[in-house]
Amino acid sequence: MLLRFEDPHDHRLIWEVPGGGIEAGETPLEAAGRELFEESGLPPESIVNRPVVLWRSFRFNGRDFHQPEHFFLAHVRASDLDFSRMPPDEARILRDHRWWTKSELDAYEGPVVPEQPAELAARLGAPAPWTAARRIPRQLLTERLLLRQWLPEDVAPLAEIYQQPEYLAHMPALDLEGTRIQLDRFAQRWQQDGLCQWAAVDLDSGKLIGRIGLIRHHDWPVSADPVEVGWTLNRDYWGRGLATEGGRASMECWRDLLDDEELISITRPANLRSRAVMERLGLTYRGMTNWRGNDSVWYATDR
Ligand SMILES: CC(C)(COP(=O)(O)OP(=O)(O)OC[C@H]1O[C@@H](n2cnc3c(N)ncnc32)[C@H](O)[C@@H]1OP(=O)(O)O)[C@@H](O)C(=O)NCCC(=O)NCCS
Repeated sequence: MLLRFEDPHDHRLIWEVPGGGIEAGETPLEAAGRELFEESGLPPESIVNRPVVLWRSFRFNGRDFHQPEHFFLAHVRASDLDFSRMPPDEARILRDHRWWTKSELDAYEGPVVPEQPAELAARLGAPAPWTAARRIPRQLLTERLLLRQWLPEDVAPLAEIYQQPEYLAHMPALDLEGTRIQLDRFAQRWQQDGLCQWAAVDLDSGKLIGRIGLIRHHDWPVSADPVEVGWTLNRDYWGRGLATEGGRASMECWRDLLDDEELISITRPANLRSRAVMERLGLTYRGMTNWRGNDSVWYATDR
């Protein structure tokens, strides 16, 4: 059930799930329950306390917001809807409400909060047909990282990493244009394989600090089309366990959402830092091979 609000500042119309700010002393669950009841009359007890936290950047009422938000699933009866408790400032900008099917939401191209409602419903454990949306999330939050889709403004900070001497010690150079082409390829891989590395953003600074995630290699000489977990970080962010943290979240996606029996990771033999991340994540050494013209070691873990 989505509510349609009109932004008082720019008059944009947007569909969104019931919800709002957390008041002093409230837990996210309590705030969600209060907001649900105020905005729709649906009972707080209907909420399942297993939230998914998403990072959201948006503009409302002339202000920019950048913040983590908790989303919950609620099992409700449609007939319990009651808008009589809606606070007056919200009632003034409420334009509509409506129950949506999954196919209606999939086909709708206008603005919706959350931005990927079907994917979120599946992550929250909503029953069929929502479960059919089982796929690698386009966005993930870890304790210190936002792993998200690539944006045009990521080209420059990523290309900057590819110029750092510490990066170049083990990896091939890539200039600005090469980085742009790489990000186009990442977008294609997301489309075709349903997965690729995410842009890794440091939550403290909001800066793009690298790339982390899964890639399916269609040219791997040892086995057919394996999924690899990989990482590259800006030199200034080494030594904090961030590659391990993002790698662990990637591994959970492999385990929970893919059918591949094996997860591999590949690097050059002398790249001891990358090998150390693999070992911290529980992958074990499997051998050496020549891949794309380079001697490469590979590690793996099985289900
Ligand atoms: C590979 C790469 C991402 C590894 O970065 P990293 O910072 O060494 O790895 P992590 O983020 O897991 O951090 C581990 C280090 O942080 C420390 N650390 C601090 N807090 C930590 C935590 N909470 N958890 C784990 N480690 C932590 C560890 O002790 C370790 O320290 P050390 O460097 O003294 O051994 C980085 O070297 C890189 O970007 N290299 C260039 C690109 C590249 O080679 N990519 C791989 C291609 S195959």
